[in-house]
Amino acid sequence: MRNVTIENVTDVVIQSLGKHEAISARQREIMTSLIHHLHDFCREVNLTHPEFLAACDFLARAGQTCSDKRQEFILLADIVGVEVLVDMLSNPIAGSETTSTVLGPFFRDNAPILPKGASTVQKAFDTQETVFVEGYIRDVDGKPIQGAIVDVWEDAPNGLYENHDPDQPDYNLRGRFESDENGHYAFRAIRPVPYPIPGDETAGELIRYMGHHQMRPGHLHMMVTREGYRPLISQIFDGESPYLDEDSVFAVKQELIGEFRKAPAGADTDLVLRFDFTLPHAAEQRMAAE
Ligand code: BEZ
Ligand code: FE
Repeated sequence: MRNVTIENVTDVVIQSLGKHEAISARQREIMTSLIHHLHDFCREVNLTHPEFLAACDFLARAGQTCSDKRQEFILLADIVGVEVLVDMLSNPIAGSETTSTVLGPFFRDNAPILPKGASTVQKAFDTQETVFVEGYIRDVDGKPIQGAIVDVWEDAPNGLYENHDPDQPDYNLRGRFESDENGHYAFRAIRPVPYPIPGDETAGELIRYMGHHQMRPGHLHMMVTREGYRPLISQIFDGESPYLDEDSVFAVKQELIGEFRKAPAGADTDLVLRFDFTLPHAAEQRMAAE
């Protein structure tokens, strides 16, 4: 079709879908909606050509920023609330299961497998407060889940994750722990501090364009997985941290706020944190989604 117009270009592009090669129903659904929303966005804001070129340049620079240590697109999605939205759509709460929240860009595969109760701290900071974290992992009927893997990661007291800080050892403040026959897990770590999400490169440009700030409240990332159960990607927030109500990536949930309490006399950490997890069976997850 030649000579498309402002009025018909959306329909013309949608009609081209699958014309030369078969596409799945899902591909058609996604592309139809994407084209509609993109075109309506351009019409609504009357996007100018210089703005369009600036956006293309922005995305190209975002791609160039990505490396095995930095995932710029997750960060951009977080800043505009897309990751938290996709997480809520993907993990609807059907009952008593623990709430999920965003993965974020700082997760690394293959964290060290550590014995129950071990510490993730490889390098101590003067200002750190140590914490003993423990709890139980159960199914929705209250039965203990043995052999669940709790993968944890957090920032150091300087506000940096180890993979963004050349002065921290590889995998500092990261570890994987297994729950025992009672579903109990435990590890030692440090109290997480609030930190700014990266404000350089394109993430910073986007935050400034939105007139927002970079700060996140202190949180421990925890991912809990066990075959046969819905994987849980979550974060435990420090109930005394600033920014709980103004998280730069909109990821705080009331149910995920934990209490870092002073440890009892004689304990080998400054603080203790108890947090239990409830995982739905994979089949229950499928039914909830249907
Ligand atoms: C994080 O919690 O690590 C995070 C999440 C979203 C964006 C940036 C950081
Ligand atoms: Fe984080």
